[in-house]
Amino acid sequence: MSYPYQISSYEEYQIAWKKSIEDPAAFWGEVASSFTWRKKWDNVLSWNFTEPNVKWFEGGKLNITENCLDRHLEKSGSMPAIIWEPNNPDEHHRILTYNQLHFKVNQFSHVLHNNGVRKGDRVCIYMGMIPELAIAVLACARVGAIHSVIFGGFSAQSIADRLQDAKAEFIVTCDGAFRGAKDIPLKNVIDDALIACPFVKRTIVLTRTRTPVSMIKGRDVWWEDEIHKVETLGNPAFPAVEMDAEDPLFILYTSGSTGKPKGVVHTCGGYMVYTNYTFVNVFQYKPEEVHFCTADIGWITGHSYIVYGPLSAGATSLLFEGIPTWPDAGRFWDIVDKFKVNILYTAPTAIRSLMAFGLGPLHGKQLDSLRVLGTVGEPINEEAWHWYDEHVGKRRCPIVDTWWQTETGGVMISNLAGITPAKPSFATLPLPGVDPVLVDENGHVVEGNNVSGNLCLRSPWPSVIRTTYGDHDRCKTNYFSAYPELYFTGDGAMRDENGFYRITGRVDDVLNVSGHRIGTAEVENAINMHAGVVESAVVGYPHDIKGQGIYAYVVYGHMHGDEELTRRDIAYTVSRIIGPIARPDKIQFVMGLPKTRSGKIMRRILRKIAEGETENLGDTSTLLEPQVVQEISNGRLIH
Ligand code: WT7
Repeated sequence: MSYPYQISSYEEYQIAWKKSIEDPAAFWGEVASSFTWRKKWDNVLSWNFTEPNVKWFEGGKLNITENCLDRHLEKSGSMPAIIWEPNNPDEHHRILTYNQLHFKVNQFSHVLHNNGVRKGDRVCIYMGMIPELAIAVLACARVGAIHSVIFGGFSAQSIADRLQDAKAEFIVTCDGAFRGAKDIPLKNVIDDALIACPFVKRTIVLTRTRTPVSMIKGRDVWWEDEIHKVETLGNPAFPAVEMDAEDPLFILYTSGSTGKPKGVVHTCGGYMVYTNYTFVNVFQYKPEEVHFCTADIGWITGHSYIVYGPLSAGATSLLFEGIPTWPDAGRFWDIVDKFKVNILYTAPTAIRSLMAFGLGPLHGKQLDSLRVLGTVGEPINEEAWHWYDEHVGKRRCPIVDTWWQTETGGVMISNLAGITPAKPSFATLPLPGVDPVLVDENGHVVEGNNVSGNLCLRSPWPSVIRTTYGDHDRCKTNYFSAYPELYFTGDGAMRDENGFYRITGRVDDVLNVSGHRIGTAEVENAINMHAGVVESAVVGYPHDIKGQGIYAYVVYGHMHGDEELTRRDIAYTVSRIIGPIARPDKIQFVMGLPKTRSGKIMRRILRKIAEGETENLGDTSTLLEPQVVQEISNGRLIH
C-alpha cells in the first residue's frame, strides 16, 4: 500500500495543517478518497459544537472491515496482519496473514449472525489479549454490530453497569486469560455480572486457559463448537454489512469526574479515516514494518493503534498477551529482537517500571530493528524520556509523544517521527485537523506563546466523540458546555516560545494511574459501599512508577480491631466494585474531612497533604472545622 497523504517534510506538515484548518472538508475529503467506499459521501462535513452535532462523510456507505481486510488481499494477502506473542515465552507464537485473518473474521461473523447478532446490536467483548479478541472486534464491525470491549481488569459490577447502560444482549469472552504469573477467570467474572443482567441472550466462550467454567444451557455456547458449524457448511464468506459513515462502530466506556463511566461513541467513517491517517503520519509507517503497540485492546489505544489504524493501513500489528515484567523485565526487548520490531509504542509507566530494573534486562538484546518509539497515556517525565531515547532507541530513533483521549479517537498533538521536531516531555504540535486553544479560568482564549491554560479544541476532526451512549446531554455537558463552541479536554497545557504544547495533566477530578483514567468520585462511591465507612475523599499523589497513586481519606464509623485489616477490606471492596486498577494505594483514617460551610470538600488541601506538603496549606479560615486540617496533616501516610 502507498499512502498519498503521508507527510514527508516539515514544510509539508505546515501546509497540510494550514489547509486542514482553513478548509477541513476539502482536506479530509481528499484523504478519505483513498479508502474503499461502497458509495461516496454526499457531504464531507456538517457540524456544530453546541449540541454537539458532528457528521463526517454523510451519505457515504462502507464497511470498515473491507478497508482493514478485503482491500489488502489481492496485493498483500500473504503479508502478516497480526503477529501474536503469547504470555508464556515457551508457547509458540502465531502469525495471521491478511488472508487468514480475513478468513477467520468471516467465519466468526457467521457465528455472530447464527447466534442472532444483527446490525446495531451491542456486543460486549471481555477477553484477554489473543488474536481472537481482534477477530471478535472485526467480526462485530463486519456484521454491523456495535462492539463494547471491556478491559479484563474490570470487576463483575463494572461489567454489569456497562452491559445495562449499553443494553448489550451478546457477550464474547474466554474461559480465562493469562497475564504474567496470573490467570484470570474471565467467564466466572461474566457469570457474576450476568446475575444482574437477565437480558443477555447469548455468551460465546473461547477456550484459552482451560479453567473450569459453568456453561448455562440456552445461554452459553463454545466458540469452537460454533466455528465447527460454519466449517461444516464449507466456510462461506460473510458479505460485509453496508454501514452509513455515521453509524456507530463502537462504544468504549471511560471515567469522568462524575460517578459513572460514560459510553464514548465512535462512528464508522470518520474514525476509520482519522486512525489510519494518524497511524501513517505519526509513526511514519512504511510497508512491511512491524508495529508493536503494547496497550490492551480494552483501551482506546488498542482499538486505534493495534486494530483499526494499522490494519486499515495494511500494516503488521504485533499483539502481546503478557506484561512487560514477566517472566522477567527483558520481555519487551526479547519481543523486539524476536520479531524485528520497527515501531514500539508504549506508556511512560511501562518505561518507568522497566527503568527500575536497570540496564541488565537490555543486555544482549538486538534492538537495531527499532526505527520509531512512541509514548501515550500520561505526561512523560524527562528522566524516562532520556532513558527511552538512550537505552532503547540508542539515540537514533525519534520518540513521538502522542497526546489524545478516548473521546478523540486518535492522536491529536504529537510530533511526526523524524519529520517534525521532538522536545522531551512535550507533545509538541497539533496534527492536521486539530486546532488547540488555551483558555483561562474566565473562559477567555489565551493568545501568544509562553502561556498556559485549559486545553480546548476549536474545530472538528473526523473521529471526535459523537455522543455518550444513551445520553446525549451528558456528552454536551461534559465536553461542550464549559466553553461555548469549544471541545474541552479536561487537561491543562502550556504553549512554549515555539508554539509547542506540553500537557500538564488533568484539571478535573480525574486521576491518571499508570495511564488509566480513574474518576475520584467513582473510587469514593466504591469506598463508601464498605459497611463501616461514613464518608471518603480521594485524591491523586505523585507516584514514581504509576505517575499518580490513589490516596483515600476515610471517615470510619467504629474501628474495632485491626486498622490494617480494615484498610485491606476497603481496598478489596474497591477491587470488587470497580476492579484492581482502582485500588487505593494509601488509606488514611481521619476524624472528618475539610469542608466549606456549604459542605463542599476542599480537595485542594487534601491534595497538598497527600503530596507531602504540611505547611502552606492555603486559607483554611472558610472551613467549617479548620482543626481537622491539622489533624489530617499530622496523620499523613508517608510514601
Ligand atoms: C488522558 C486520556 C489516549 C490513549 C490513552 C489514554 C492523558 C494521554 C498523553 C500524553 C500527557 C496524556 C491526558 C488525557 N494523556 N496521552 N502524551 N501526554 N498526557 O486515554 O484513558 O482516554 O485518557 O490521558 O490526561 O486527557 P484516556
